[in-house]
Amino acid sequence: MFVMVVKKPRNLRDALKGKLTKKEMEFLITSYDSMGDIAVIQVTKELEKKAKIIGETLLNMNKQFTTVCMVSGEHQGLFRTQPVKVIAGKRTKKALYKESGSSFMVELGKVFFSPRLGTERLRISQLIKENEVIGAFFAGVGPFPIVFARQSKMKKAYAIELNPEAVKGLIYNIALNKCQNKIEPILGDVKKIVPKMLVGKCDRVVMPLPKGGEGFLREALRALKPSGGIVHFYRFVDREKGSEMPEKEIKEAAKELGMTTKILRNKKVRSFSASKEQIVIDFEARKK
Ligand SMILES: C[S@@+](CC[C@H](N)C(=O)[O-])C[C@H]1O[C@@H](n2cnc3c(N)ncnc32)[C@H](O)[C@@H]1O
Repeated sequence: MFVMVVKKPRNLRDALKGKLTKKEMEFLITSYDSMGDIAVIQVTKELEKKAKIIGETLLNMNKQFTTVCMVSGEHQGLFRTQPVKVIAGKRTKKALYKESGSSFMVELGKVFFSPRLGTERLRISQLIKENEVIGAFFAGVGPFPIVFARQSKMKKAYAIELNPEAVKGLIYNIALNKCQNKIEPILGDVKKIVPKMLVGKCDRVVMPLPKGGEGFLREALRALKPSGGIVHFYRFVDREKGSEMPEKEIKEAAKELGMTTKILRNKKVRSFSASKEQIVIDFEARKK
């Protein structure tokens, strides 16, 4: 008896053999972000005309996906949004993403969201003690405060976000995850909101704004309780210089406010480019 064995492609590169030329294969980026039912992939300029084929191939390989989007630009502006285009499947950019027992509706292209910080959100949740009050700066659609609310015994988080589209998503996701009694969504600028309503209230502040977050260290320090608290400060740094610059920035801000600081942890979160990486510094601060 003759049995035909159809070999399944092992990966995207394998599946695209015969669809892309050898030269085109050199420009292929095979990694992608999985945003629930939507895959988000980078397509290099050289392959833009083949985007549809790449998207359809990825869609056929993964039954989990109903849509494939390609990133069509860098993160931009104050809101750190990244333009995306649907290249295959259902014409939608609304993704339902699940992480650590929480669900997030994310409108791709209109708000910032990165599934790559999931480990960080869980790590911090495990550090939060019972009844803590958290300042969730730069909250986006809520991944940090919502994972905290569901994975820790925190009392309350103030979730501050400047992008009105992201705040709409934040409010939706707070309800979706049933944490209305634990998270207060606030539309506004951290610079204005902290002096108005957060001075001296928090046990912990999380600052997930790796580009420019250093300009808000004084607000993070002012938000801490007079008895002290902990800050999680994210920052892009030169790989070679490591935490030298952010540690200096922390010291300077604390000195200005008459506070002492102690670095608790300093760790790489992810590579960003050949010369840059994202790090997080956990530090303690209190009034002298
Ligand atoms: C890198 S994103 C992080 C979003 C979210 N925490 C996440 O991990 O998905 C930074 C967010 O900070 C917001 N943002 C920027 N400047 C701000 C400010 N001055 N006050 C409040 N939010 C701000 C942006 O709109 C963006 O949503």
